[in-house]
Amino acid sequence: MNTIQVKDKVFKPFISSEKIQEAICRIAQQMNNDLADKNPIFICVLNGAFMFAADLYKEINIDSEITFMRMKSYEGTQTTGHVKAISGLMENIEGRNVVVIEDIVDTGYTMVSIIEQLKEKGAADVKIATLLHKPEACKVENLKLDYVAIEIPNAFIVGYGLDYDELGRNLKDIYVIAE
Ligand code: IMP
Repeated sequence: MNTIQVKDKVFKPFISSEKIQEAICRIAQQMNNDLADKNPIFICVLNGAFMFAADLYKEINIDSEITFMRMKSYEGTQTTGHVKAISGLMENIEGRNVVVIEDIVDTGYTMVSIIEQLKEKGAADVKIATLLHKPEACKVENLKLDYVAIEIPNAFIVGYGLDYDELGRNLKDIYVIAE
């Protein structure tokens, strides 16, 4: 793996595709054990989590469904600031056991808002599966992440679905910004 350039920034190799797959298999096994009789509905948060969701779902062997949604940004009031609303979720999730599939939890604001909105839509239970977690960047309290594939330090990364200005999502491995 070599250093790469995406737009104006240089990134260096960080997590190989083999390590990513290993970590995904580990959390998929936990989910197969924990959720066997729950008939969960997995909800992939587009765009970033599409690759993770595809690889994760191939390892899930219990009765379950998968669907997709986006978080759409809009300007809130002065007090609420920058708000993101769920968009494009077609399924009725009332009374369902939901598992959110997210690419990365950084400050945690997005995830808190996702959980709140899914509960408002009537989900019986909301569990979180994230490929990456930056614990040092967390700005919210009491955010329970049920399945974390890989913890990383607070640095900007691209690859495996994650982008820098919409580029770099196609990379098989994950790269970190070079200082
Ligand atoms: P949060 O609300 O701060 O937790 O941000 C979550 C969202 O920010 C993720 O779903 C990503 O889209 C984006 N994000 C956070 N950190 C990175 C990164 O290092 N690379 C690419 N996108 C990131």
